[in-house]
Amino acid sequence: MVNVDISSIYGAVPQETVAAMEPRLNAAYDTLFSGSGAGNDFLGWLHLPENYDKEEFARIQKAAKKIQSDSQALVVIGIGGSYLGARAVVDLIKSPNYNLKKKDTPDIYFAGNTLSTDAVLETLELIGDRDFSINIISKSGTTTEPAVSFRIFKAALEAKYGKEEAAKRIYATTDKARGALKGLADVEGYEEFVVPDDVGGRYSVLTAVGLLPIAVAGIDIEALMQGAADAMNAFSVKSMDNPVFQYVAARNALYEAGKSVEILGSYEPSFRFMTEWWKQLYGESEGKDLKGIFPASVEFTADLHSMGQFIQQGSRIMFETIVNFQKPHGEVVIGEDADNVDGLNFLAGKNLKFVCDQAMLGTRLAHVDGGVPNIVVNVETIDAYNTGALIYFFELACGISGYVLGVNPFNQPGVEAYKKNMFGLLGKPGYEELGAELKARL
Ligand code: PA5
Repeated sequence: MVNVDISSIYGAVPQETVAAMEPRLNAAYDTLFSGSGAGNDFLGWLHLPENYDKEEFARIQKAAKKIQSDSQALVVIGIGGSYLGARAVVDLIKSPNYNLKKKDTPDIYFAGNTLSTDAVLETLELIGDRDFSINIISKSGTTTEPAVSFRIFKAALEAKYGKEEAAKRIYATTDKARGALKGLADVEGYEEFVVPDDVGGRYSVLTAVGLLPIAVAGIDIEALMQGAADAMNAFSVKSMDNPVFQYVAARNALYEAGKSVEILGSYEPSFRFMTEWWKQLYGESEGKDLKGIFPASVEFTADLHSMGQFIQQGSRIMFETIVNFQKPHGEVVIGEDADNVDGLNFLAGKNLKFVCDQAMLGTRLAHVDGGVPNIVVNVETIDAYNTGALIYFFELACGISGYVLGVNPFNQPGVEAYKKNMFGLLGKPGYEELGAELKARL
């Protein structure tokens, strides 16, 4: 499933220093599981893999089948925690080229995560005259980007099918009682799915927020939940043998030793959006009170030819966490060439996976020698089960790590600042005074 190797950090922090973190980890673990810490009204994700709404889960599967049967495209509208998890899982398990592949499931377009005119026009163009449905996802139901985007795509849907038929093609994932989207969904009769009150956006991928788009892409969401459930049980051990404890201890020991940037990477290009999901999870959870590890990401080996220079020789502020998927889904063997003009016959007969592994091992040694400690997170293979386990691994580690750091890992007060300014500048009712003040400054 998932295990962790922290042996490549001991040049930067002594093994005893990492081991000595155990009592602090135990305390953070107890705070999390007893629900006695800051943000304790957002702990629903902790037991979600087993304690989820089974009736709603069956409705998600049914809705996914309907969308697969009546739509060639699904527009998933959401931002932040209402977007990144689904995109990450679809990219990782299906492919970043999912829409380009021959398949019997709909293309999926992610919208509402931008205010770019060109991006919206492009999505409309890509849908063209094909049959489509919309999944609008917003816990608050009031976030500007998805709300604006929903108006635009809803208008296109209604123009194509008429209001009544369009309503049968709109699926709203939102709060069970509050918000403008909930009100609209009730009035228009959209099928509704719930973002539980006690699950924050960045911890919501295993709710309807992530599960509906993931299921539409043809991914086995039962296996995803099973992986998360098995991880939940496997990682419930309060000890340094627990891979979650090892990861949390390592990253906090490195932070306290002056490493303030964590670079998450993998040698699988399909992992890219998982790093985006992880950046939100850790960035929003830990980056507050003037504290926190800055979460960054790379895609290897591609970025060894760009960011590799900085990582090897730039400011010594970072450590790496490499997610290593151990088993690929097939085999590519490098051939023999009679002329050997490229000089690569020394690799003839070798498996591409072997070559990649040597790149990974060589990079780890080089980066560690260059002062960049490495944490390795080993995952058996890329599939729904292991992805569910990896999601739970990172979520649990994030909750514990936030309490070790001494912050509330479940709020995000900092993201409100830009929203208020934007509302003021846009003239939203209630923000007139702020708007005038800001305009005077510009
Ligand atoms: O983690 C979070 O809470 C945020 O990233 C939200 O998910 C994001 O702002 C979208 O919010 P909402 O789902 O309310 O539209």
